[in-house]
Amino acid sequence: MLKIGIINGPNLNMLGKRDQKIYGNLTLEEINCKIKSFAEKKGIELVITQSNFEGEIIEFIQQNSSQVDGLIINPAAYTHYSYAIADALRDCSIPVIEVHLSNIFSREDFRGKSVTAPACIGQIAGFGCQSYILAIHALQDLLKKKPKKIK
Ligand code: DQA
Repeated sequence: MLKIGIINGPNLNMLGKRDQKIYGNLTLEEINCKIKSFAEKKGIELVITQSNFEGEIIEFIQQNSSQVDGLIINPAAYTHYSYAIADALRDCSIPVIEVHLSNIFSREDFRGKSVTAPACIGQIAGFGCQSYILAIHALQDLLKKKPKKIK
């Protein structure tokens, strides 16, 4: 069974209360339910985490990258400046897809720069909760084609 880790960065635990015009009205729990039921139907197991702390995100990557086949990460604001998370993603030997709920390129200038995306296979942004579902689909497809442990 394919196993995918999903990492959500700072403030994403506040979804539902954050600007709904940008992030939609779903809470993180509701998003997790939707993506879990999508994954279940595809026979994929998800390990989902959220943290407001950079070090915890790095530890999750380090500790789980040998237990999962791929990672999906929404680094939230860390996207724009965390070279430490980018390094942890580079150091893990599994494919990673970066996701964003909003289209980061249509917002403030600082959001148009991702320091973490270059450490990923690709990025999906702007589709709300669907960004995660598209990423699961893409990762499954990629892992079917590529043997495990090769980026
Ligand atoms: C976000 C975009 C980031 O710029 C922002 O800091 C977030 C959420 C998104 O999913 O659209 O917290 O990653």
